[in-house]
Amino acid sequence: MIIDLISDTVTKPTKGMLDAMMSAKVGDDVFKMDPTVNALEQKAAKMFGMEDALFFPSGTMANQTAIKLHTQPGDLIIADKYAHIYNYESGGVAFNSGVTCKLIDGNRGMFTAKQIEEFAAVKPQIYLPFTKMICVENTTNKGGGACWDFSELEKIKQVAKK
Ligand SMILES: Cc1ncc(COP(=O)(O)O)c(C=O)c1O
Repeated sequence: MIIDLISDTVTKPTKGMLDAMMSAKVGDDVFKMDPTVNALEQKAAKMFGMEDALFFPSGTMANQTAIKLHTQPGDLIIADKYAHIYNYESGGVAFNSGVTCKLIDGNRGMFTAKQIEEFAAVKPQIYLPFTKMICVENTTNKGGGACWDFSELEKIKQVAKK
């Protein structure tokens, strides 16, 4: 058997998956009339302890929308040098949100809270871009599917809050 990991898109849906698609209850999502999307959003909101959730049909759309929502033009976002948002989204961060990236030299797409702290230690000046987001990609794409250590994510959250 050949296992081709060139992309997730190489994987074909199984018969069970295709059957589920064909028999799914559907409707107009704009009017919140798609029961399958509604159920998925409710499940995701519950899972992450959020008030609500929003289904996006592509990862790039979700990433670009999140960046747009959380930044203003001229802001800076911190990301690993391997980050998908920096490398593989057609410069969308600049085009859609007008932001710039500070790239961290991490390991397999993952950085540490200490690296963020070191960067944040530079005293903000009026002429420096304002850091608004820390991008944590889990699992990492260009990092070969590496998975973050949860305790490191908690530390990064603390640094972000500070
Ligand atoms: C981390 C990450 N973000 C975004 C994407 C883009 O997803 P899509 O092709 O659904 O836009 C990928 C695709 O592999 C990814 O690995």
